[in-house]
Amino acid sequence: MASQRTSDINSTRVWARLHQHQRATRHMHMRELFDADPQRFQRFSLELDGLLLDYSKNRITERTLELLFELAREADLAGWMEKMRSGQRINVSEDRAVLHTALRLPAGETLVLDGCELVTEVQAVLARMRAFSEQVRGGEWKGFSGRRIRHVVNLGIGGSDLGPLMVKEALAAYATPELDVHFVSNVDGAHVARTLERLDPAETLFIIASKSFATPETLLNAQAARQWFLQAGSEADIARHFVAVSTNQPAVQAFGIDPAHMFGFWDWVGGRYSTWSAIGLPVMLAIGFERFQKFLAGGHAMDLHFFSAPFAANMPVLLALIGVWYNTFYRAHTHAIMPYDHGLRRLPAHVQQLDMESNGKRVGRYGEALDFDTGPVIWGEEGANSQHAFFQLLHQGTRLVPCDFIIPMRSHYPVADQHQVLVANCLAQTEALMRGKGEAEAMRELAHLSGEQVDMLLPQKLFPGNQPSNTLALDEVSPYSVGMLLALYEHKVFVQGVIWGINSFDQWGVEYGKQLARRILPELTADDDALAHDSSTNGLIRHFKSRQS
Ligand code: F6P
Repeated sequence: MASQRTSDINSTRVWARLHQHQRATRHMHMRELFDADPQRFQRFSLELDGLLLDYSKNRITERTLELLFELAREADLAGWMEKMRSGQRINVSEDRAVLHTALRLPAGETLVLDGCELVTEVQAVLARMRAFSEQVRGGEWKGFSGRRIRHVVNLGIGGSDLGPLMVKEALAAYATPELDVHFVSNVDGAHVARTLERLDPAETLFIIASKSFATPETLLNAQAARQWFLQAGSEADIARHFVAVSTNQPAVQAFGIDPAHMFGFWDWVGGRYSTWSAIGLPVMLAIGFERFQKFLAGGHAMDLHFFSAPFAANMPVLLALIGVWYNTFYRAHTHAIMPYDHGLRRLPAHVQQLDMESNGKRVGRYGEALDFDTGPVIWGEEGANSQHAFFQLLHQGTRLVPCDFIIPMRSHYPVADQHQVLVANCLAQTEALMRGKGEAEAMRELAHLSGEQVDMLLPQKLFPGNQPSNTLALDEVSPYSVGMLLALYEHKVFVQGVIWGINSFDQWGVEYGKQLARRILPELTADDDALAHDSSTNGLIRHFKSRQS
Protein backbone atom coordinates (compact mmCIF):
# COMPACT_ATOMS: atom_id res chain seq x y z
CA MET A 1 0.00 0.00 0.00
CA ALA A 2 1.51 3.35 -1.01
CA SER A 3 1.60 5.83 1.85
CA GLN A 4 -0.69 8.85 1.43
CA ARG A 5 1.80 11.29 2.83
CA THR A 6 5.16 10.47 1.40
CA SER A 7 6.95 12.29 4.20
CA ASP A 8 5.92 9.27 6.33
CA ILE A 9 8.36 7.42 4.17
CA ASN A 10 10.85 7.02 7.01
CA SER A 11 8.38 4.96 9.01
CA THR A 12 7.84 2.42 6.25
CA ARG A 13 9.25 -1.10 6.44
CA VAL A 14 11.31 -0.65 3.33
CA TRP A 15 13.05 2.39 4.82
CA ALA A 16 14.10 0.27 7.80
CA ARG A 17 15.16 -2.55 5.49
CA LEU A 18 17.30 -0.17 3.46
CA HIS A 19 19.04 0.92 6.67
CA GLN A 20 19.63 -2.73 7.57
CA HIS A 21 20.87 -3.44 4.07
CA GLN A 22 23.28 -0.51 4.29
CA ARG A 23 24.65 -1.80 7.60
CA ALA A 24 25.02 -5.29 6.18
CA THR A 25 26.79 -4.21 2.99
CA ARG A 26 28.73 -1.10 3.96
CA HIS A 27 32.06 -2.92 4.15
CA MET A 28 31.59 -4.45 0.73
CA HIS A 29 34.17 -3.09 -1.72
CA MET A 30 33.22 -2.34 -5.32
CA ARG A 31 36.49 -3.92 -6.45
CA GLU A 32 35.21 -7.25 -5.15
CA LEU A 33 31.85 -6.76 -6.83
CA PHE A 34 33.61 -6.22 -10.16
CA ASP A 35 35.93 -9.18 -9.61
CA ALA A 36 32.96 -11.41 -8.80
CA ASP A 37 30.88 -10.39 -11.81
CA PRO A 38 32.49 -9.85 -15.21
CA GLN A 39 29.06 -8.76 -16.51
CA ARG A 40 28.66 -5.95 -13.99
CA PHE A 41 29.01 -3.20 -16.59
CA GLN A 42 26.38 -4.81 -18.84
CA ARG A 43 24.12 -5.38 -15.86
CA PHE A 44 24.37 -1.85 -14.53
CA SER A 45 24.41 0.38 -17.60
CA LEU A 46 21.87 1.53 -20.13
CA GLU A 47 21.78 3.58 -23.26
CA LEU A 48 19.25 5.95 -24.75
CA ASP A 49 19.66 7.77 -28.06
CA GLY A 50 23.42 8.24 -27.85
CA LEU A 51 23.57 8.76 -24.09
CA LEU A 52 25.11 5.94 -22.07
CA LEU A 53 24.68 5.77 -18.32
CA ASP A 54 27.17 3.51 -16.56
CA TYR A 55 26.10 3.14 -12.95
CA SER A 56 28.11 0.01 -12.25
CA LYS A 57 30.72 1.86 -10.15
CA ASN A 58 28.30 2.24 -7.26
CA ARG A 59 28.08 0.48 -3.92
CA ILE A 60 25.00 -1.39 -5.03
CA THR A 61 23.84 -4.90 -5.72
CA GLU A 62 20.67 -6.15 -7.40
CA ARG A 63 19.19 -6.34 -3.89
CA THR A 64 19.96 -2.66 -3.24
CA LEU A 65 18.11 -1.70 -6.37
CA GLU A 66 15.16 -3.96 -5.56
CA LEU A 67 14.80 -2.26 -2.20
CA LEU A 68 15.13 1.20 -3.75
CA PHE A 69 12.45 0.37 -6.33
CA GLU A 70 10.23 -0.77 -3.47
CA LEU A 71 10.89 2.56 -1.77
CA ALA A 72 9.86 4.35 -4.97
CA ARG A 73 6.65 2.32 -5.09
CA GLU A 74 6.02 3.10 -1.44
CA ALA A 75 6.36 6.83 -2.23
CA ASP A 76 3.93 6.33 -5.13
CA LEU A 77 6.49 7.58 -7.62
CA ALA A 78 4.48 6.39 -10.62
CA GLY A 79 1.44 8.27 -9.31
CA TRP A 80 3.41 11.49 -8.83
CA MET A 81 4.97 11.17 -12.27
CA GLU A 82 1.51 10.94 -13.78
CA LYS A 83 0.32 13.89 -11.70
CA MET A 84 3.16 15.99 -13.03
CA ARG A 85 2.75 14.83 -16.62
CA SER A 86 -0.98 15.48 -16.68
CA GLY A 87 -0.78 18.95 -15.11
CA GLN A 88 -2.16 18.37 -11.60
CA ARG A 89 -1.24 21.17 -9.21
CA ILE A 90 1.62 19.38 -7.51
CA ASN A 91 3.30 22.66 -6.56
CA VAL A 92 0.85 22.81 -3.67
CA SER A 93 2.26 25.78 -1.76
CA GLU A 94 1.88 28.00 -4.85
CA ASP A 95 -1.14 26.10 -6.18
CA ARG A 96 0.47 25.58 -9.58
CA ALA A 97 0.86 22.82 -12.09
CA VAL A 98 4.42 21.81 -13.00
CA LEU A 99 4.58 21.47 -16.74
CA HIS A 100 8.03 22.28 -18.06
CA THR A 101 7.62 18.99 -19.94
CA ALA A 102 4.83 20.67 -21.98
CA LEU A 103 7.42 23.10 -23.35
CA ARG A 104 9.10 20.16 -25.05
CA LEU A 105 5.99 18.55 -26.54
CA PRO A 106 6.10 18.55 -30.35
CA ALA A 107 3.56 20.60 -32.31
CA GLY A 108 0.42 18.59 -32.87
CA GLU A 109 0.33 17.06 -29.37
CA THR A 110 -2.33 18.33 -27.00
CA LEU A 111 -2.32 19.08 -23.30
CA VAL A 112 -5.19 20.94 -21.71
CA LEU A 113 -4.82 22.88 -18.45
CA ASP A 114 -7.77 24.84 -17.04
CA GLY A 115 -9.47 24.81 -20.44
CA CYS A 116 -6.40 26.09 -22.32
CA GLU A 117 -4.57 23.98 -24.87
CA LEU A 118 -0.98 24.48 -23.83
CA VAL A 119 0.89 23.07 -26.81
CA THR A 120 -0.75 25.62 -29.12
CA GLU A 121 0.23 28.43 -26.75
CA VAL A 122 3.80 27.13 -26.46
CA GLN A 123 4.12 26.80 -30.22
CA ALA A 124 2.79 30.34 -30.73
CA VAL A 125 5.55 31.78 -28.52
CA LEU A 126 8.13 29.58 -30.25
CA ALA A 127 6.95 30.93 -33.61
CA ARG A 128 7.43 34.51 -32.38
CA MET A 129 10.86 33.63 -31.00
CA ARG A 130 11.70 32.08 -34.35
CA ALA A 131 10.64 35.13 -36.37
CA PHE A 132 12.54 37.45 -34.05
CA SER A 133 15.70 35.35 -33.87
CA GLU A 134 15.77 34.90 -37.64
CA GLN A 135 15.57 38.65 -38.13
CA VAL A 136 18.37 39.29 -35.66
CA ARG A 137 20.57 36.46 -36.92
CA GLY A 138 19.93 37.41 -40.54
CA GLY A 139 20.80 41.06 -39.91
CA GLU A 140 17.35 42.39 -40.87
CA TRP A 141 16.71 43.58 -37.34
CA LYS A 142 18.72 46.79 -37.31
CA GLY A 143 19.95 48.90 -34.45
CA PHE A 144 19.21 52.65 -34.32
CA SER A 145 22.07 53.57 -36.64
CA GLY A 146 20.99 51.09 -39.29
CA ARG A 147 23.71 48.56 -38.51
CA ARG A 148 22.92 44.94 -37.67
CA ILE A 149 22.96 43.58 -34.12
CA ARG A 150 26.30 42.01 -33.18
CA HIS A 151 25.87 41.61 -29.42
CA VAL A 152 23.04 40.23 -27.32
CA VAL A 153 23.14 40.79 -23.56
CA ASN A 154 20.85 38.66 -21.41
CA LEU A 155 20.03 40.39 -18.12
CA GLY A 156 18.66 37.81 -15.69
CA ILE A 157 19.63 35.84 -12.60
CA GLY A 158 19.10 32.33 -11.19
CA GLY A 159 16.89 30.33 -13.51
CA SER A 160 16.74 33.27 -15.90
CA ASP A 161 20.51 33.06 -16.32
CA LEU A 162 22.12 29.76 -15.35
CA GLY A 163 20.21 27.43 -17.67
CA PRO A 164 20.44 29.47 -20.89
CA LEU A 165 24.04 30.41 -20.09
CA MET A 166 25.00 26.79 -19.58
CA VAL A 167 23.26 25.62 -22.78
CA LYS A 168 24.67 28.47 -24.85
CA GLU A 169 28.20 27.68 -23.64
CA ALA A 170 27.71 23.96 -24.20
CA LEU A 171 26.60 24.55 -27.78
CA ALA A 172 29.25 27.09 -28.73
CA ALA A 173 30.28 24.90 -31.67
CA TYR A 174 26.80 25.42 -33.15
CA ALA A 175 26.61 29.18 -32.63
CA THR A 176 26.66 31.78 -35.38
CA PRO A 177 29.87 33.82 -35.52
CA GLU A 178 27.73 36.87 -36.39
CA LEU A 179 26.47 37.33 -32.85
CA ASP A 180 28.12 37.36 -29.44
CA VAL A 181 25.73 36.43 -26.65
CA HIS A 182 26.65 37.71 -23.18
CA PHE A 183 25.04 37.12 -19.80
CA VAL A 184 24.90 39.63 -16.97
CA SER A 185 23.43 38.41 -13.70
CA ASN A 186 25.20 39.83 -10.66
CA VAL A 187 24.07 43.08 -9.09
CA ASP A 188 27.77 43.79 -8.55
CA GLY A 189 28.19 46.70 -10.95
CA ALA A 190 31.39 45.13 -12.23
CA HIS A 191 29.39 42.54 -14.12
CA VAL A 192 27.31 44.93 -16.19
CA ALA A 193 30.03 47.59 -16.47
CA ARG A 194 32.74 45.20 -17.62
CA THR A 195 30.43 43.49 -20.09
CA LEU A 196 29.26 46.73 -21.67
CA GLU A 197 32.60 48.53 -21.80
CA ARG A 198 33.60 46.57 -24.90
CA LEU A 199 30.25 46.88 -26.71
CA ASP A 200 28.76 49.41 -29.10
CA PRO A 201 25.17 50.45 -28.17
CA ALA A 202 24.25 50.73 -31.85
CA GLU A 203 24.90 46.99 -32.28
CA THR A 204 23.66 45.72 -28.91
CA LEU A 205 20.35 44.09 -28.07
CA PHE A 206 19.28 43.52 -24.47
CA ILE A 207 17.00 40.75 -23.27
CA ILE A 208 15.56 41.47 -19.84
CA ALA A 209 14.80 37.97 -18.61
CA SER A 210 12.77 37.70 -15.43
CA LYS A 211 9.83 35.45 -14.74
CA SER A 212 8.49 37.80 -12.07
CA PHE A 213 9.93 41.01 -13.50
CA ALA A 214 10.39 41.97 -9.87
CA THR A 215 13.91 40.72 -9.16
CA PRO A 216 15.97 43.71 -8.00
CA GLU A 217 19.29 42.45 -9.36
CA THR A 218 17.85 42.10 -12.85
CA LEU A 219 15.87 45.33 -12.80
CA LEU A 220 18.88 47.31 -11.58
CA ASN A 221 21.03 45.84 -14.33
CA ALA A 222 18.26 46.64 -16.82
CA GLN A 223 18.21 50.28 -15.62
CA ALA A 224 22.01 50.43 -15.89
CA ALA A 225 21.85 49.02 -19.43
CA ARG A 226 19.19 51.54 -20.34
CA GLN A 227 21.28 54.45 -19.03
CA TRP A 228 24.30 53.14 -20.92
CA PHE A 229 22.25 52.80 -24.08
CA LEU A 230 20.74 56.30 -23.80
CA GLN A 231 24.20 57.83 -23.94
CA ALA A 232 24.14 56.92 -27.63
CA GLY A 233 20.56 56.15 -28.61
CA SER A 234 17.28 57.91 -27.83
CA GLU A 235 14.15 56.84 -25.91
CA ALA A 236 12.51 56.12 -29.25
CA ASP A 237 15.33 53.69 -30.10
CA ILE A 238 14.77 51.59 -26.95
CA ALA A 239 12.19 49.49 -28.79
CA ARG A 240 14.83 48.19 -31.21
CA HIS A 241 17.34 47.44 -28.48
CA PHE A 242 15.37 46.05 -25.52
CA VAL A 243 13.10 43.03 -25.42
CA ALA A 244 11.74 41.20 -22.38
CA VAL A 245 11.03 37.62 -21.40
CA SER A 246 8.57 37.36 -18.55
CA THR A 247 5.23 36.14 -17.23
CA ASN A 248 4.43 39.66 -15.95
CA GLN A 249 3.22 41.82 -18.80
CA PRO A 250 2.09 44.84 -16.70
CA ALA A 251 5.55 45.14 -15.13
CA VAL A 252 7.23 44.79 -18.53
CA GLN A 253 5.06 47.59 -19.89
CA ALA A 254 5.69 49.73 -16.83
CA PHE A 255 9.41 49.36 -17.54
CA GLY A 256 8.76 50.88 -20.96
CA ILE A 257 8.91 47.79 -23.16
CA ASP A 258 6.27 47.37 -25.82
CA PRO A 259 4.33 44.08 -25.26
CA ALA A 260 5.02 43.38 -28.94
CA HIS A 261 8.64 42.93 -27.85
CA MET A 262 7.83 40.69 -24.92
CA PHE A 263 8.04 36.90 -25.07
CA GLY A 264 5.82 35.30 -22.48
CA PHE A 265 5.75 32.09 -20.53
CA TRP A 266 3.55 30.73 -17.80
CA ASP A 267 3.34 30.25 -14.04
CA TRP A 268 3.49 26.48 -14.54
CA VAL A 269 7.14 26.84 -15.57
CA GLY A 270 9.48 27.12 -12.58
CA GLY A 271 12.40 29.55 -13.00
CA ARG A 272 15.04 26.82 -12.77
CA TYR A 273 13.07 24.71 -15.28
CA SER A 274 12.56 27.52 -17.77
CA THR A 275 15.43 27.25 -20.28
CA TRP A 276 12.98 25.46 -22.59
CA SER A 277 10.65 28.45 -22.64
CA ALA A 278 11.25 31.97 -23.98
CA ILE A 279 13.98 32.16 -21.33
CA GLY A 280 15.91 30.13 -23.92
CA LEU A 281 15.78 33.08 -26.35
CA PRO A 282 19.52 33.87 -26.05
CA VAL A 283 20.20 30.23 -26.90
CA MET A 284 17.96 30.40 -29.94
CA LEU A 285 19.67 33.61 -31.04
CA ALA A 286 23.03 31.88 -30.76
CA ILE A 287 22.24 28.52 -32.38
CA GLY A 288 19.12 29.22 -34.47
CA PHE A 289 15.55 27.94 -34.36
CA GLU A 290 16.15 24.46 -35.88
CA ARG A 291 18.86 23.61 -33.39
CA PHE A 292 16.80 24.97 -30.52
CA GLN A 293 14.07 22.61 -31.67
CA LYS A 294 16.56 19.73 -31.51
CA PHE A 295 17.37 20.79 -27.96
CA LEU A 296 13.64 20.61 -27.15
CA ALA A 297 13.43 17.24 -28.93
CA GLY A 298 16.26 15.89 -26.74
CA GLY A 299 14.37 17.00 -23.64
CA HIS A 300 11.18 15.42 -24.97
CA ALA A 301 12.95 12.13 -25.71
CA MET A 302 14.06 12.03 -22.07
CA ASP A 303 10.47 12.81 -20.98
CA LEU A 304 9.08 9.94 -23.05
CA HIS A 305 11.68 7.62 -21.57
CA PHE A 306 11.05 8.86 -18.02
CA PHE A 307 7.28 8.53 -18.24
CA SER A 308 7.30 5.08 -19.84
CA ALA A 309 10.39 3.02 -18.92
CA PRO A 310 10.18 0.62 -15.99
CA PHE A 311 12.10 1.84 -12.95
CA ALA A 312 14.86 -0.72 -13.54
CA ALA A 313 15.59 0.73 -16.99
CA ASN A 314 14.77 4.36 -16.30
CA MET A 315 17.77 6.71 -16.28
CA PRO A 316 16.38 9.53 -14.13
CA VAL A 317 14.85 7.05 -11.68
CA LEU A 318 18.10 5.10 -11.37
CA LEU A 319 20.22 8.21 -10.89
CA ALA A 320 17.77 9.55 -8.33
CA LEU A 321 17.44 6.34 -6.32
CA ILE A 322 21.19 5.75 -6.26
CA GLY A 323 21.50 9.35 -5.04
CA VAL A 324 18.94 8.65 -2.30
CA TRP A 325 20.90 5.55 -1.33
CA TYR A 326 24.00 7.61 -0.55
CA ASN A 327 22.29 10.73 0.70
CA THR A 328 19.79 9.12 3.02
CA PHE A 329 21.26 5.77 3.92
CA TYR A 330 25.00 6.53 3.79
CA ARG A 331 24.47 10.13 4.92
CA ALA A 332 26.76 11.43 2.20
CA HIS A 333 26.17 15.15 2.31
CA THR A 334 27.37 16.24 -1.08
CA HIS A 335 27.24 15.19 -4.70
CA ALA A 336 29.87 16.27 -7.22
CA ILE A 337 29.36 16.79 -10.95
CA MET A 338 32.39 16.75 -13.23
CA PRO A 339 31.79 17.42 -16.92
CA TYR A 340 34.86 16.49 -18.94
CA ASP A 341 33.89 19.01 -21.57
CA HIS A 342 34.84 22.66 -21.53
CA GLY A 343 31.50 23.69 -23.02
CA LEU A 344 29.60 21.97 -20.21
CA ARG A 345 31.62 23.72 -17.51
CA ARG A 346 28.57 25.65 -16.27
CA LEU A 347 26.51 22.46 -15.86
CA PRO A 348 27.48 22.06 -12.16
CA ALA A 349 26.27 25.61 -11.45
CA HIS A 350 22.99 25.04 -13.26
CA VAL A 351 22.35 21.68 -11.56
CA GLN A 352 23.34 23.28 -8.27
CA GLN A 353 20.41 25.70 -8.53
CA LEU A 354 18.12 23.07 -10.02
CA ASP A 355 18.75 20.58 -7.23
CA MET A 356 19.44 22.74 -4.19
CA GLU A 357 16.61 25.24 -4.78
CA SER A 358 14.26 22.32 -5.46
CA ASN A 359 15.16 19.86 -2.71
CA GLY A 360 17.02 21.93 -0.12
CA LYS A 361 14.04 21.79 2.23
CA ARG A 362 13.36 20.71 5.80
CA VAL A 363 9.58 20.35 5.60
CA GLY A 364 7.47 18.11 3.43
CA ARG A 365 4.94 19.27 0.88
CA TYR A 366 2.21 19.43 3.56
CA GLY A 367 4.38 21.53 5.87
CA GLU A 368 5.35 18.66 8.15
CA ALA A 369 8.89 18.49 9.57
CA LEU A 370 11.17 15.93 7.95
CA ASP A 371 13.54 14.22 10.32
CA PHE A 372 15.93 12.87 7.73
CA ASP A 373 18.43 14.48 5.38
CA THR A 374 17.06 15.82 2.11
CA GLY A 375 18.82 17.43 -0.87
CA PRO A 376 22.61 17.16 -0.99
CA VAL A 377 25.06 19.99 -1.56
CA ILE A 378 25.73 19.95 -5.31
CA TRP A 379 29.09 21.13 -6.49
CA GLY A 380 31.64 20.41 -9.17
CA GLU A 381 33.97 21.69 -11.81
CA GLU A 382 35.08 20.72 -15.26
CA GLY A 383 37.60 17.94 -15.69
CA ALA A 384 40.54 17.69 -16.07
CA ASN A 385 40.95 20.98 -14.13
CA SER A 386 39.15 19.53 -11.12
CA GLN A 387 41.72 16.72 -10.90
CA HIS A 388 44.35 19.33 -10.13
CA ALA A 389 42.17 21.07 -7.58
CA PHE A 390 40.03 18.88 -5.32
CA PHE A 391 40.46 15.28 -6.41
CA GLN A 392 43.01 14.73 -3.64
CA LEU A 393 40.11 14.80 -1.18
CA LEU A 394 38.04 12.43 -3.31
CA HIS A 395 40.88 9.91 -3.45
CA GLN A 396 42.31 10.10 0.05
CA GLY A 397 40.02 12.29 2.13
CA THR A 398 37.68 10.97 4.78
CA ARG A 399 34.37 11.70 3.10
CA LEU A 400 32.06 9.74 0.87
CA VAL A 401 31.43 11.89 -2.21
CA PRO A 402 29.26 10.33 -4.91
CA CYS A 403 30.18 11.79 -8.30
CA ASP A 404 28.80 12.10 -11.82
CA PHE A 405 31.36 12.12 -14.62
CA ILE A 406 30.11 13.41 -17.96
CA ILE A 407 32.16 12.90 -21.10
CA PRO A 408 31.49 13.22 -24.84
CA MET A 409 32.86 10.41 -27.01
CA ARG A 410 33.67 12.79 -29.85
CA SER A 411 34.93 16.35 -29.63
CA HIS A 412 34.05 19.35 -31.78
CA TYR A 413 37.60 20.56 -31.32
CA PRO A 414 40.07 17.89 -32.43
CA VAL A 415 43.40 19.30 -31.27
CA ALA A 416 46.10 16.63 -31.81
CA ASP A 417 45.16 13.70 -29.54
CA GLN A 418 43.90 15.90 -26.71
CA HIS A 419 40.42 14.40 -26.68
CA GLN A 420 41.84 10.92 -26.08
CA VAL A 421 43.92 12.36 -23.24
CA LEU A 422 40.78 13.91 -21.76
CA VAL A 423 38.85 10.64 -22.06
CA ALA A 424 41.75 8.66 -20.57
CA ASN A 425 41.82 11.02 -17.61
CA CYS A 426 38.10 10.79 -17.03
CA LEU A 427 38.02 6.99 -17.16
CA ALA A 428 41.15 6.73 -15.04
CA GLN A 429 39.59 8.83 -12.31
CA THR A 430 36.45 6.71 -12.11
CA GLU A 431 38.59 3.57 -12.07
CA ALA A 432 40.93 4.88 -9.38
CA LEU A 433 38.05 6.12 -7.25
CA MET A 434 36.38 2.73 -7.51
CA ARG A 435 39.40 0.38 -7.17
CA GLY A 436 41.67 2.29 -4.87
CA LYS A 437 45.21 1.06 -4.36
CA GLY A 438 46.01 -1.56 -1.73
CA GLU A 439 49.19 -2.33 0.20
CA ALA A 440 50.64 -4.93 -2.13
CA GLU A 441 50.39 -2.62 -5.12
CA ALA A 442 51.74 0.37 -3.23
CA MET A 443 54.62 -1.70 -1.85
CA ARG A 444 55.76 -2.59 -5.36
CA GLU A 445 56.31 1.11 -6.01
CA LEU A 446 58.32 1.47 -2.82
CA ALA A 447 60.47 -1.66 -3.14
CA HIS A 448 63.66 0.35 -3.66
CA LEU A 449 63.28 2.37 -0.43
CA SER A 450 64.57 1.78 3.09
CA GLY A 451 62.28 0.31 5.76
CA GLU A 452 61.99 3.68 7.48
CA GLN A 453 61.04 5.45 4.27
CA VAL A 454 58.49 2.74 3.49
CA ASP A 455 56.91 3.16 6.94
CA MET A 456 56.43 6.84 6.29
CA LEU A 457 55.38 6.66 2.65
CA LEU A 458 53.24 3.54 2.52
CA PRO A 459 50.18 5.07 4.25
CA GLN A 460 50.45 8.07 1.91
CA LYS A 461 50.42 5.81 -1.12
CA LEU A 462 47.27 3.92 -0.17
CA PHE A 463 43.95 4.74 -1.80
CA PRO A 464 40.90 3.25 -0.10
CA GLY A 465 38.80 3.41 -3.28
CA ASN A 466 35.11 2.45 -3.02
CA GLN A 467 34.24 6.03 -3.95
CA PRO A 468 31.11 5.79 -6.12
CA SER A 469 30.50 7.40 -9.49
CA ASN A 470 28.12 7.41 -12.42
CA THR A 471 29.49 8.01 -15.89
CA LEU A 472 27.33 9.68 -18.51
CA ALA A 473 28.88 9.23 -21.95
CA LEU A 474 27.36 11.38 -24.70
CA ASP A 475 28.13 10.44 -28.30
CA GLU A 476 28.78 14.15 -28.74
CA VAL A 477 27.68 17.41 -27.24
CA SER A 478 24.80 18.46 -29.49
CA PRO A 479 21.54 20.37 -29.04
CA TYR A 480 19.76 17.01 -28.75
CA SER A 481 22.14 15.46 -26.21
CA VAL A 482 22.28 18.61 -24.09
CA GLY A 483 18.47 18.59 -24.07
CA MET A 484 18.51 15.00 -22.87
CA LEU A 485 21.08 15.73 -20.20
CA LEU A 486 19.24 18.72 -18.81
CA ALA A 487 15.89 16.89 -18.70
CA LEU A 488 17.64 13.92 -17.09
CA TYR A 489 18.77 16.05 -14.16
CA GLU A 490 15.37 17.74 -13.88
CA HIS A 491 13.63 14.38 -13.55
CA LYS A 492 16.27 13.07 -11.17
CA VAL A 493 15.57 16.00 -8.85
CA PHE A 494 11.82 15.42 -9.13
CA VAL A 495 12.13 11.74 -8.24
CA GLN A 496 14.24 12.50 -5.18
CA GLY A 497 11.71 15.11 -4.08
CA VAL A 498 8.94 12.52 -4.38
CA ILE A 499 10.86 10.00 -2.30
CA TRP A 500 11.47 12.56 0.44
CA GLY A 501 7.94 13.96 0.21
CA ILE A 502 9.11 17.42 -0.82
CA ASN A 503 7.48 19.99 -3.06
CA SER A 504 10.46 20.50 -5.40
CA PHE A 505 8.87 23.45 -7.16
CA ASP A 506 8.66 26.27 -4.63
CA GLN A 507 11.56 28.21 -3.06
CA TRP A 508 10.41 29.99 0.09
CA GLY A 509 13.91 29.74 1.50
CA VAL A 510 15.25 32.50 -0.74
CA GLU A 511 12.74 35.09 0.52
CA TYR A 512 14.01 35.93 4.00
CA GLY A 513 17.41 37.18 2.89
CA LYS A 514 15.68 39.36 0.29
CA GLN A 515 13.43 40.88 3.00
CA LEU A 516 16.38 41.67 5.24
CA ALA A 517 18.33 43.19 2.35
CA ARG A 518 15.41 45.55 1.71
CA ARG A 519 15.64 46.65 5.34
CA ILE A 520 19.42 47.04 5.36
CA LEU A 521 19.69 48.95 2.08
CA PRO A 522 18.42 52.33 3.38
CA GLU A 523 20.42 51.88 6.58
CA LEU A 524 23.65 51.88 4.58
CA THR A 525 23.13 55.52 3.66
CA ALA A 526 20.98 56.80 6.54
CA ASP A 527 22.35 59.82 8.50
CA ASP A 528 20.94 58.41 11.66
CA ASP A 529 23.06 55.70 13.30
CA ALA A 530 20.25 53.87 15.09
CA LEU A 531 20.28 50.19 14.22
CA ALA A 532 18.36 47.30 15.70
CA HIS A 533 20.09 44.23 14.32
CA ASP A 534 22.40 41.89 16.20
CA SER A 535 25.77 43.38 17.12
CA SER A 536 27.55 41.72 14.19
CA THR A 537 25.16 43.08 11.55
CA ASN A 538 25.09 46.49 13.26
CA GLY A 539 28.89 46.48 13.38
CA LEU A 540 29.23 45.59 9.73
CA ILE A 541 26.74 48.27 8.63
CA ARG A 542 28.67 50.89 10.66
CA HIS A 543 31.95 49.63 9.25
CA PHE A 544 30.60 50.03 5.71
CA LYS A 545 29.40 53.56 6.45
CA SER A 546 32.71 54.52 8.00
CA ARG A 547 34.53 53.57 4.80
CA GLN A 548 32.41 55.63 2.39
CA SER A 549 33.89 59.10 2.76
O1 F6P B 1 15.49 34.16 -5.74
C1 F6P B 1 15.36 32.95 -6.38
C2 F6P B 1 14.64 33.09 -7.69
O2 F6P B 1 13.30 33.35 -7.47
C3 F6P B 1 14.82 31.86 -8.55
O3 F6P B 1 13.95 30.85 -8.25
C4 F6P B 1 14.67 32.42 -9.92
O4 F6P B 1 15.19 31.57 -10.89
C5 F6P B 1 15.44 33.71 -9.78
O5 F6P B 1 15.16 34.15 -8.47
C6 F6P B 1 15.09 34.77 -10.77
O6 F6P B 1 13.73 35.09 -10.76
P1 F6P B 1 13.06 35.92 -11.92
O7 F6P B 1 13.17 35.13 -13.18
O8 F6P B 1 11.63 36.11 -11.49
O9 F6P B 1 13.77 37.24 -12.04
